[in-house]
Amino acid sequence: MYLDEIETTRDVEIPTDPIDRIIGQDHVINKVKSAIKQRRNLLLVGPPGIGKSMIAQALALKLSRPNEEIRVVCNPQNPERPELEIIKRGELEKEKESQPVRGILISPKEVPSFVAEQLGFRCSSCGEISEVNETICPKCGNNKYSRVLWSRRNTPFGDIITEVFELGTRRPEREVKTTRIGSDGREKIIVYQHAGEGKIRVLDQSTLDNIRKVSEKKQMKILIPIDRIPFVHATGASETELLGDVRHDPYGSHPEIGTPAYERVIPGAIHEAHEGVLFVDELPHMEYLQNFILTAMQEKKFSIIGRNPHSAGASVKVNNVPCDFIFVGACNIADIEKILPPLRSRIVGNGYEILLETTMPDNEENRKTLLQFIAQEVEIDSRIPHASKGAIEEIIKESRKRAFELDGKRNALTLRLRDFGGLIRLAGDRAVLDESEFIEAIHVRKSLDEAKPIEHQIQERYGSIWKGVKSDSAVPIRSEKKDEGYV
Ligand SMILES: Nc1ncnc2c1ncn2[C@@H]1O[C@H](COP(=O)(O)OP(=O)(O)OP(=O)(O)O)[C@@H](O)[C@H]1O
Ligand SMILES: [Mg+2]
Repeated sequence: MYLDEIETTRDVEIPTDPIDRIIGQDHVINKVKSAIKQRRNLLLVGPPGIGKSMIAQALALKLSRPNEEIRVVCNPQNPERPELEIIKRGELEKEKESQPVRGILISPKEVPSFVAEQLGFRCSSCGEISEVNETICPKCGNNKYSRVLWSRRNTPFGDIITEVFELGTRRPEREVKTTRIGSDGREKIIVYQHAGEGKIRVLDQSTLDNIRKVSEKKQMKILIPIDRIPFVHATGASETELLGDVRHDPYGSHPEIGTPAYERVIPGAIHEAHEGVLFVDELPHMEYLQNFILTAMQEKKFSIIGRNPHSAGASVKVNNVPCDFIFVGACNIADIEKILPPLRSRIVGNGYEILLETTMPDNEENRKTLLQFIAQEVEIDSRIPHASKGAIEEIIKESRKRAFELDGKRNALTLRLRDFGGLIRLAGDRAVLDESEFIEAIHVRKSLDEAKPIEHQIQERYGSIWKGVKSDSAVPIRSEKKDEGYV
């Protein structure tokens, strides 16, 4: 039986592979794997909260690390046509090695503890210092970054991100910036950086000024850094956010007081997604911008120009900025017809259109995956306890009920998991209030009452939705007799 092997959801193992955390959409998984391997596009169709964004993020986490840094460099012959420089990871590392080492090298014990923690040396649970690549603290056995990791609540993969992106990308930090009041009473910036071999490099204000002067001499700007998370969420982006822009300069790039054109170039989401995933939820709402996406998908290059005709940026153009991304679009069934046919044809021609499931059959195996879902939600939330067997049974009962009420399926479990996760969180909050070690059946039952959809609440109070609507525009009833009724 699905509950035989565990006492609570704490005993449920959560997969480390982001794809395995997607529940109940097995038919999608193979297509996602092909999309990763063959760089195919995806269109995900289905109602809210069934894992569309989650699938796109999982896909991005499985891609190999970006290999190119994109820079814009000043073009002295024609400053308003800055040039592109694309540097491969290998070249970039060589370039870094050839730069003279600056700053002072010290040990992680000598820096403030929060700096040692953010750089990945210090355990956030017990304070022990160990090597950065040791994720598990050798003294207390906890994940060294656990406190910081689980606070990354905006993704169901908060913990995985470290493992997938290794050092130097997101966690631990490559450098930490702080400030200190100098002897002259002024605030000074201090930067702590990894220097390899268990050392930290400290750069003070004057060293930083020198570094800045060197890069100014080079006259270039890093447009797309190599250490980036290759997932760009472009839902609702404006034209400039999607395609990039060139900022206005009131001094018109004047050599002394103005800002040179190359420094004012801003990448768009399509460029930031280069070598990664460009995700657009509610795709039809992008309206005419879909045309640009399809051009970018086809050409894999898109020039950046100043998009405001009244701005000094309008005369600047950087040609052919790379934007080779995997496109993942999402929408509901009702909106499919609003997707531009040529864009759909680009997806179908080089990818997959997938209708997500809203329920899965109620069998032992699927109950087990639902257990995994409960455990995942508890871990992502990090503020609620795990669920006891009694609570799990209540949750499964509710899942069956929702599969029937929302999708008309008998003997099924719901996959409308965002809302369902809400129930687990509510029950968890109740358990916390009760100071209970686990979520118990009673917490789930009470939360079900609290989590009633607003339509049910209206029906209960007014008798019907229609009467509820009428109550919005209530007109005062005048009584003939003075003060009757309410005094
Ligand atoms: N198939 C799933 N497997 C595991 N968890 C899921 C699944 N679907 C939804 N969830 C949970 O619900 C949350 C919301 O899901 P997600 O943002 O991917 O939904 P969505 O389909 O993109 O919704 P929307 O259409 O509103 O953007 C996820 O972060 C996750 O916690
Ligand atoms: Mg979404």
